[in-house]
Amino acid sequence: MAFSIGIIGAGEFAEQFVPLFQLHPDISDVAIADLIPERREDYAKRFGIERVFASADEMFNSDLDAVGIFTQRWTHGELAVKALRAGKHVYSAVPMAYSTTEIGQIIAEVRRSGLVYMMGETSYYNPAAIYGRQRQQDGGFGRLFYAEGDYVHDMDHGFYTAFQRGGGENWRGTASYPPMHYPTHSLGGVLSVTQDPITSVSCLGVEDDHPDGIFNRELSIFGNSFSNQTALFQTKSGGAVRINEMRRVGYPTHIRESRFRFFGTEAVFEQTARVSAWQTKHTYEDVSDLLQVRPTAQLTAERAAVFAADVKRVFLGGYSPLHDRSRLPQGYDAIPNGHEGSHHFLAADFVEAVITRTMPSVNAWVAARFTVPGILAHDSSLAGGERLMVPDFGDAPV
Ligand SMILES: NC(=O)c1ccc[n+]([C@@H]2O[C@H](COP(=O)([O-])OP(=O)(O)OC[C@H]3O[C@@H](n4cnc5c(N)ncnc54)[C@H](O)[C@@H]3O)[C@@H](O)[C@H]2O)c1
Repeated sequence: MAFSIGIIGAGEFAEQFVPLFQLHPDISDVAIADLIPERREDYAKRFGIERVFASADEMFNSDLDAVGIFTQRWTHGELAVKALRAGKHVYSAVPMAYSTTEIGQIIAEVRRSGLVYMMGETSYYNPAAIYGRQRQQDGGFGRLFYAEGDYVHDMDHGFYTAFQRGGGENWRGTASYPPMHYPTHSLGGVLSVTQDPITSVSCLGVEDDHPDGIFNRELSIFGNSFSNQTALFQTKSGGAVRINEMRRVGYPTHIRESRFRFFGTEAVFEQTARVSAWQTKHTYEDVSDLLQVRPTAQLTAERAAVFAADVKRVFLGGYSPLHDRSRLPQGYDAIPNGHEGSHHFLAADFVEAVITRTMPSVNAWVAARFTVPGILAHDSSLAGGERLMVPDFGDAPV
């Protein structure tokens, strides 16, 4: 039976998902909540939303079946726990939470309640991650013993305005969010392929020296002065993973913000901004086209113009040849997609999990494995690279 969902946070990102939930045949109603009246009213008008709430708490007290958390990145854990305790299924933008304590609470609440929790990790449906999973499943890598993931997103690529919007008057104190506390767009893509949990970490942080003075330990509400961090992780099977989380980096983030490399005993798969290759001991195959996301025919220029008027920041991306569009609801083709073709699949996964009461792709246990290692990596960099053990919440129950 169709269910209702309330979106918490009428900000920049949620507008990508409201139309997806509204169009889904298994969603009966989409509501909106924001602490700022103009923002929630703007969403209500633009998307024809009838049920409008003044806060997340007000929404938790309603009869809505599910919530989608699209609030500032440091707020997700507490809201997810409250939502689950209020009996709501939860879709949450990344990261899962700021602390391992909150993550443990989310897992405990999901286990207790049997409700669905899903983290909307966009790199999970990045074509490079899909390609890597296919090659891993068909054994092409041999033993996959080493992988790299980079989330290379410079402050100049939209982060100043994003943090100003989200942090209000104190935005300077929030823009220094520790890079390794946002590790899912790099580590998530890697682990979705290797399925090999992290056991320990040693991480180095680069002290920021940019004249804007944002990454300042005194000013930062997170006490953080690292703008770039590099972590080396050990995995359960004895392999290694290297992760870069960079906020001061000369890289064309608008072309590609998450990049991956996978090294196996039989093959290596490498991705750069424009070129991706599958290589064996004797062959080189350029797979760039396979990984390229292109707008669908349905998303014509005319249609895009309509969306441009309605939606402030248009994601035109459609799908890559690797995306299995057959499992998406009808009509998604004509809605802009974002983050390398992932938005449509994340929305569809969550709805399917609630309807069928099955574990979604990035369930609470998977989300914890994508998030917890970064939290420990940050601790390690504060301790000068000391190697720390990474707690593991285990596999999702069947
Ligand atoms: N690739 C990705 O997965 C990706 C990309 C962009 C953003 N994000 C995530 O999406 C989230 C939202 O980003 P954004 O840029 O839209 O943020 P934003 O600051 O534009 O919007 C957040 C909104 O939430 C509202 N809010 C906060 N607490 C609330 C509460 N208790 N009740 C009701 N409303 C509340 C704020 O008033 C604000 O309008 C962030 O956590 C970010 O990490 C993920």
